Amino acid sequence: MKVSLRNYSWYKFLVVTLALIFISSMQVSLAGNPNSFNRLMKKKPERNLPPSRDGIHDPNAEGTGTLQPPKEAFSNLVKSKSGNYVDWVKSLREGKINPRYDRLDPKAKPIIMDLNIVREVKGSMPDVVFPHAQHTEWLDCSNCHPAIFIPRKGANQISMASILLGQKCGVCHGKVAFPITARTCRTCHSKSKLTKVKNKKRVRK
Ligand code: HEC
Ligand code: HEC
Ligand code: HEC
Repeated sequence: MKVSLRNYSWYKFLVVTLALIFISSMQVSLAGNPNSFNRLMKKKPERNLPPSRDGIHDPNAEGTGTLQPPKEAFSNLVKSKSGNYVDWVKSLREGKINPRYDRLDPKAKPIIMDLNIVREVKGSMPDVVFPHAQHTEWLDCSNCHPAIFIPRKGANQISMASILLGQKCGVCHGKVAFPITARTCRTCHSKSKLTKVKNKKRVRK
């Protein structure tokens, strides 16, 4: 009886120790690369790797080697401070790229709609301005309406949490458009709130 009890506590000690080693090694690997799931938030040396090393394309496939590496393709484009480090809006507007609007029709022109939608934000963050122009330069209305957004001001509930979970604006931002990082808050939260000041005039912050 005595022997088996001693064996039992030794066994328990071993299990707990192994579990602790396992958990701490997991934490180390997670802490090492918290954003490994997000290809738009890679560390500098891991950004815009050639197709054979980007973790998206099959390195053994024949076609992979024939694709132009992003760094070469991006070299003449306007730079930005996040995502894949290209300012796509400026690159398009300065004519550095000329994307085909319709896959099958090289002459198709986009229907650009210049309509800003202001979304008032509770709390101290500046309000969000959703610009239709920058979006409809690339995208058809049907990319967003009605599946992602009902086309009526204020008809949609949007929160930061849903965006970070890949819904609403997050269907694209963080995947194919600029991601949510400390550097990009102001790109969406671009309208200062009206605030009262001492001389009773309302001014922009
Ligand atoms: C990238 C996504 C996206 C695209 C593409 C897009 N919209 Fe919108 N649209 C929105 C969002 C977001 C709102 C605001 C909804 C809200 O406030 O709840 C909106 C609102 C609207 C509204 C309501 C305006 C109002 O004052 O009530 C109309 C109308 C509209 N869009 C039409 C269009 C048309 C037409 C196109 C194509 C030319 C288009 N949208 C393309 C996202 C988009
Ligand atoms: C269907 C995809 C899609 C959705 C949904 C979407 N966006 Fe965008 N957005 C884009 C693309 C593509 C661009 C242009 C490329 C880029 O700037 O990364 C863009 C650009 C922008 C820009 C312009 C940045 C500049 O440099 O001028 C703002 C601001 C913006 N989005 C805010 C929003 C907000 C706010 C929402 C949600 C209400 C939203 N977007 C939803 C795809 C989308
Ligand atoms: C792609 C555009 C986009 C970016 C980038 C973005 N936000 Fe937002 N944010 C929104 C939208 C849209 C809402 C919802 C506004 C509303 O209530 O309609 C929002 C709401 C918020 C709110 C209000 C609470 C909530 O969750 O709804 C806070 C706080 C906030 N954002 C903080 C931030 C901070 C901090 C950053 C930068 C790390 C950031 N946002 C980046 C689009 C964006």
